[in-house]
Amino acid sequence: MNDILEKPRKIYVTRKIEFNAAHRLFNPELSDEENRQFYGKCSGEFGHGHNYLLEITLSGFIDRKTGYLFDLKALKQILEEEIVSRFDHRHLNHEVGELAGHVPTTEILAVIVWEILESRLQAITKQGVSLHEVTIHETGKNSVTYLGE
Ligand code: NI
Repeated sequence: MNDILEKPRKIYVTRKIEFNAAHRLFNPELSDEENRQFYGKCSGEFGHGHNYLLEITLSGFIDRKTGYLFDLKALKQILEEEIVSRFDHRHLNHEVGELAGHVPTTEILAVIVWEILESRLQAITKQGVSLHEVTIHETGKNSVTYLGE
């Protein structure tokens, strides 16, 4: 049998996770009128909820010994600890330190999730596995992707 891993094979592995959270799109530095203009219904005083679906993609070369890129059980555990426990059933404007002072748009959330995971994953990036992509679906129709650039 030929050795298909004789040449390095770059691969992308994705794990999905979900959390539910509330937010209000409101910038206190803007007037009420501007907030209504930018954020419409999403600026409503009491906020509203979303069922967020995240796709976290790692990239790197298949390990010759295991045939894996990275153990998905370990990734699941990291995502539970770093993301679900931090965001699930929280009000993003008030209960998540990393978001303090930011308007919690999905774009901002994607960057914050990237930063949290990037620092947690430093140990594995030394082994040649990288965080490649964070995609957040805020609704069935709207999603945001951040590639760390
Ligand atoms: Ni919203």
